[in-house]
Amino acid sequence: MRLKAWALSLMLGRIVEGTILQNGQVRETDFPNTRINNPASYGFKTYDADAPELSYKGRWDSKKVSYWSAPGVVFGFSGDTVAITFGQNTVNGTLIGYRVSGMDWIFTNVTVGGTHLLVTPETPGIGETYPVNPQRFEMRVSNWGYGVQIDKVHVGAEESLIKIPPYKRTIEFIGDSLSAGDFQTYESLSSFAYGVGEGLGETEYYVTAFPGICVTDQECWGNPRGQVHQWFYSSDTSWRAAQIWGDTPEPWDFEKMETTPDIVVINLGTNDNNVANNVSAEAYVDAYKKLIQGVHGKYPNAQVVVMELWLGFYQYGNSYGQSLGFQQELEDIVAYFNSEEYLSAPRIWDGTTKTTKTLDTPSQPFVHYFRTKGILQHNDIGPQYHPTDVGAIKVASHLLQYIKLTFGWDLIATGPEVFHETLYWNDQDSY
Ligand SMILES: *[C@@H]1O[C@H](CO)[C@@H](O)[C@H](O)[C@H]1NC(C)=O
Ligand SMILES: *[C@@H]1O[C@H](CO)[C@@H](O)[C@H](O)[C@H]1NC(C)=O
Ligand SMILES: *[C@@H]1O[C@H](CO)[C@@H](O)[C@H](O)[C@H]1NC(C)=O
Repeated sequence: MRLKAWALSLMLGRIVEGTILQNGQVRETDFPNTRINNPASYGFKTYDADAPELSYKGRWDSKKVSYWSAPGVVFGFSGDTVAITFGQNTVNGTLIGYRVSGMDWIFTNVTVGGTHLLVTPETPGIGETYPVNPQRFEMRVSNWGYGVQIDKVHVGAEESLIKIPPYKRTIEFIGDSLSAGDFQTYESLSSFAYGVGEGLGETEYYVTAFPGICVTDQECWGNPRGQVHQWFYSSDTSWRAAQIWGDTPEPWDFEKMETTPDIVVINLGTNDNNVANNVSAEAYVDAYKKLIQGVHGKYPNAQVVVMELWLGFYQYGNSYGQSLGFQQELEDIVAYFNSEEYLSAPRIWDGTTKTTKTLDTPSQPFVHYFRTKGILQHNDIGPQYHPTDVGAIKVASHLLQYIKLTFGWDLIATGPEVFHETLYWNDQDSY
């Protein structure tokens, strides 16, 4: 949210890749070094990055470069070997999480141009044939600002990739640092948005979120554009996206999405609300409405959940209070989309062509308000103004239950790890 903190985290990330700080201390990690020096000697069978067996999750561009938060790749494979060669547009040292089927996440930092041997006969889950069959490989990028480029995918000489069809439910998050996992320990893979997407079980998820971004289309904390514009593009507002695409990013191809989101959760306004960005309430409301009109135009059947903002906590006399933002504006936005005026002649916005269109057919109510009051307390927010891991888990847990109660989505996940390294326990029965 704050430029200084954000810029600092980028710089730190570049110097000490692979180091996770927890309460200011280095967390002990045991990331395997997966880079191999002589891939040709392994006799792999090799697939190109556009092989139809590969399913790209989240937003990637046509060069197979990942953007936004928690983008990933999923495929089935035979045998006991998977390696990936990362292309020139990979940020060197990017930390990825990967796993086989329902086993725990394994983390490794990957290198530009490097071939990384990720799955071997020793990888947990290998050799088991149930309940996930064919065995499923999944990889996700952990940092919201870094990215990888898939160049090649390799399996054993006599083995093959297997297409895994997408799950039937899809959720998308549109947000800023709060959804991107900024300042949580595994960043995107510790965020509340990821926690909901993964925690629902058997659900595809997109986390189209980037730290510091406003919904309003203006510069905010170094992001040149706001979500009302950028959501329509493949790439985010990072420096590396600008390096790769300059001023002409690729429009996101909504038509080619593997699945269309059924639910879209929006958490935007914390940056617009910051005086440093000087966004007026009118500009905020206008941009927020256009974004929802954009979502309604691209995904006519999606339900939209507007999240109430939480801006942090302050000591209030002998207790604590919560700062809120755009309270009335958000209520008004939700009311507008539920009004007869809107529903009888719904307007949709196309951020790429900058046009507004009024539809001939009326819409059914599709905009909901998720009130976050009471979920977080002051000690759920870390020194850099973002939820701690525990805070993110609390938001995710409440939002999961809200989705279940509001839309009837059953919680299907019954065991596989969602949040890595959150096992805090006491094994001493008395003190
Ligand atoms: C991860 O990247 C950093 C920086 O490039 C490097 O020092 C470290 O050895 C790498 N770790 C592994 C396990 O490859
Ligand atoms: C990327 O990082 C690896 C491991 O830390 C290092 O060996 C390699 O030289 C780096 N490559 C580039 C292009 O900086
Ligand atoms: C904030 O925006 C208003 C209206 O556009 C403008 O008049 C004012 O100078 C801006 N203030 C700052 C500090 O940029």
